[in-house]
Amino acid sequence: MNTMLQGVEDRPFIPTEYVVRLARTPWERAGHHALRREVFCNEQHVFEKDDRDAIDGVAIPIIAACCMAGIPDRIVGAVRIHETEPDVWRGSRLAVQADHRKLGRIGAELIRMAVSTAHGLGATRFLAQVQEQNVLFFRRLHWKSLGTITLHGLPHHDMEADLSRYPAHGLDQTWLLRPQPRIRQVA
Ligand SMILES: CC(C)(COP(=O)(O)OP(=O)(O)OC[C@H]1O[C@@H](n2cnc3c(N)ncnc32)[C@H](O)[C@@H]1OP(=O)(O)O)[C@@H](O)C(=O)NCCC(=O)NCCS
Repeated sequence: MNTMLQGVEDRPFIPTEYVVRLARTPWERAGHHALRREVFCNEQHVFEKDDRDAIDGVAIPIIAACCMAGIPDRIVGAVRIHETEPDVWRGSRLAVQADHRKLGRIGAELIRMAVSTAHGLGATRFLAQVQEQNVLFFRRLHWKSLGTITLHGLPHHDMEADLSRYPAHGLDQTWLLRPQPRIRQVA
């Protein structure tokens, strides 16, 4: 096997760019919900047909979009944030489309956008209920566990972000991600 292709040959296409920002347009919001349905209903079976709940009425949706020729083409990442009590915010429904995982740090950057946005809106604490298999992922991103809980019949940890690692920013912040595969295909 050509060693230059190891780890990339099973990926039919590696996008060159993603944008991460708040979902504003109907297209972005529809994509945010469609991705959550795909991940939490079809893939994980945590919910049956629809994962939306009352929190969606107050939450701020955030998206990662895969770009084609510099233009957002498809929503491949989602998370939402909301204030649960004065200055205490929570993130939930973090999802990256399966083909785009462990590729462009999309999950990590969605978390950064979520926490830094809430910080900019006055959060003094930022929490999330994290599925057990993702606890290490969050720990590496400067979160600590406050204890274990069972949610939707699955083991979770209630976790808190270290806000000093997530500088506050405004609602217009946009990040451009360029995936860096470990081994790159030569043109
Ligand atoms: C969890 C999830 C959001 C991670 O998204 P992702 O885009 O693959 O994550 P990233 O690419 O940003 O990962 C950043 C780093 O963490 C690592 N990582 C990713 N998921 C991890 C996990 N579950 N445990 C430990 N490390 C993990 C990646 O390998 C990468 O490491 P590197 O920096 O050494 O390359 C994604 O796997 C997902 O959507 N899963 C299904 C839904 C889900 O579980 N949602 C979260 C509910 S709490």
